[in-house]
Amino acid sequence: MEPAVSSAGAIERMDPGHAAYLLGGAGDEITLRANQQAWQDLRLWPRTLHSLAGSHARIDLHGRTWPTPLLVAPMAHQMLAHPHGEQGTALAAASQGVGLVLSCQASQPLESVAGAVRADAQRGPLWFQLYLQPRPEDTLTLVRRAEAAGFEALVLTIDAPVQGVRDRELRTGFSLPPHLSAVNLAPPPAEPLDALLARAPTHDDIAWLRRHTRLPLLLKGVLHPADAAAAVALGIDGLIVSNHGGRTLDTTVATAHALPAVVRAVAGAVPVLVDGGIRRGTDVIKALALGASAVLVGRPVLAGLAEDGAMGVARVLRRLRDEFVAAQALCGCRSPAEAAGLDLLRPD
Ligand SMILES: Cc1cc2nc3c(=O)[nH]c(=O)nc-3n(C[C@H](O)[C@H](O)[C@H](O)COP(=O)(O)O)c2cc1C
Repeated sequence: MEPAVSSAGAIERMDPGHAAYLLGGAGDEITLRANQQAWQDLRLWPRTLHSLAGSHARIDLHGRTWPTPLLVAPMAHQMLAHPHGEQGTALAAASQGVGLVLSCQASQPLESVAGAVRADAQRGPLWFQLYLQPRPEDTLTLVRRAEAAGFEALVLTIDAPVQGVRDRELRTGFSLPPHLSAVNLAPPPAEPLDALLARAPTHDDIAWLRRHTRLPLLLKGVLHPADAAAAVALGIDGLIVSNHGGRTLDTTVATAHALPAVVRAVAGAVPVLVDGGIRRGTDVIKALALGASAVLVGRPVLAGLAEDGAMGVARVLRRLRDEFVAAQALCGCRSPAEAAGLDLLRPD
């Protein structure tokens, strides 16, 4: 039986263009596949005879305690998967103690998504993902709206200055249906490639954004340890090791392989999170064993959303959380924070 957290069932039955957007990757989708394979190829060395009394799945991040080490990755245009859209995802994540990173390209107003879950005492972190907008004042407007809506951190995505070449989408001729748009953004100006390239995010932009918000600022899309060290020096509050789920540059290193070097470069200065190909509870414990503080999950959430709206997302996240709790115990580990110290991934 196909595991619930990796089945794409309802999406594969959709319009081929929509399915290509929701599930596809760049180029030959080598990185898309490698991300999953890399977690699967790691072998666990579980520990025994360790007391499991007082076990829990809680984590501490940015001075607060959260119920699980899981967050939903930022994903654009979720109403393409189901009319419940981002609000459905947010409610389902909150119901499972899973965090939410809302994409700035959401198909619903950021205020209504935050408002649906902000007051829930059992929810996970509520973060807002940003792309730098063509005009700095539009970026700042988004930051102020996110702050006012109650988002608790900003996640600046830095690995997509231009869109990846996504062959599956090109083959199907995907375009967004007219009733959907990135409702939180000012309509994008038509920009020639050199203008796009000229405003690709730089260290100066990070320093600028750092000065303009008091919220914790995380960078998403870091793979190289030298970039991780430079980002820490700029005063950021966290890093997300990510290759955009294989949607930008094909043949990049799998995130499971990039994570250890980034963790070493950061040396505990800020939390390091990771996403890409995480489908099973065993993948989650492996990420924590390699030094991640938490993980983000992408496409399985969209699969659940397409299948059955908010209920489908809740089922996917429930299953992943339960699998993680079992894997943690079977590794002889009492908490996510303990995983990195148990030598669970010895070189074969
Ligand atoms: C349909 C789709 C839309 C995405 N949109 C965004 C986005 O708006 N911003 C962003 O930073 N990442 C975006 N991502 C990348 C995810 O945040 C995440 O890095 C990736 O999906 C993780 O890999 P996984 O899907 O294998 O779990 C998107 C991914 C998908 C599948």
